Amino acid sequence: MTSDTSVTVRVPAKVNVQLAVGGARPDGFHDLANVFLAVGLYDEVTVSEADAFELTCTGPGSDQVPLDRTNLAARAAYALAARHGLGEPTIRIHIAKDIPVAGGMAGGSADAAGALVACDALWGTNASREELLDICAELGSDVPFSLVGGAALGTGRGEKLELLDVGGEFWWVFAAADGGLSTPAVYREFDRLSPDAPDPVAAPALLEALRTGDVEALAATVTNDLQPAALSLFPSLKDTLDAGTSAGALAALVSGSGPTTAFLAADEASARRVAAGLAEAGVCRTARVAPSPAPGATLL
Ligand code: C5P
Repeated sequence: MTSDTSVTVRVPAKVNVQLAVGGARPDGFHDLANVFLAVGLYDEVTVSEADAFELTCTGPGSDQVPLDRTNLAARAAYALAARHGLGEPTIRIHIAKDIPVAGGMAGGSADAAGALVACDALWGTNASREELLDICAELGSDVPFSLVGGAALGTGRGEKLELLDVGGEFWWVFAAADGGLSTPAVYREFDRLSPDAPDPVAAPALLEALRTGDVEALAATVTNDLQPAALSLFPSLKDTLDAGTSAGALAALVSGSGPTTAFLAADEASARRVAAGLAEAGVCRTARVAPSPAPGATLL
């Protein structure tokens, strides 16, 4: 339930179990076949009435989060207010961060989806799902998925979503790196390394693995076309990937544009062993265990 003066929304991180990337389009974006899976690491976005617009952020990496109107969460609030003729939003947005910042897990996109749902509830704008998804797509390629959660195939630049069935629970370990990677820089490196990228297509075997909840089959089919580019810009990630595999992960990959690395484990106990192995090897800042799929933006 919501009160009149303050609304909190919980939003999940994502991992891309397949990220197939085509060549650069005339608008600079890349066509994708992007299989998103929401995972149980969450930010919480609280929006409350205030005298003027204000944005605050706490949690790991929050010192790197912009607190002005360039923040995607702020842009989400302004976009909804503009559409409904509400003028300058006089609200405080507070982001309690738990999703790694600049890590390739769509934390900024999650905060935008969270702020949008929270403002819609606070202001009683009652935007339709379509309108919310429309605003999300304007804000960024990953924002619509943060709203819907679960699993989905994103095409276009990632914003056109087709929901996918997931037939079981998958356990992951996410290793946060020291430092960040800029998504545009990773795409530019991709263009340099893969000048003739073919049109991206979702792999039928991977969609089937998700549908049946078959972890071995999913491990055999996960791919990330941005991984070579991320490794080229951040070579030490290779040591992290190797350490996770040695610790028993069924699959190891860079999450999105990185530098967070993702490890698929056979079950929760195995995920905890992989996390312990990564921590012991000293190849990451933190190693977090999370299940999937997770729900999308949810009012608390
Ligand atoms: O859409 P979003 O703002 O999240 O994208 C961030 C950057 O990532 C873009 O400016 C672009 O450089 C790159 N990108 C891309 N193709 C996509 C998605 C993102 O080139 N499909």
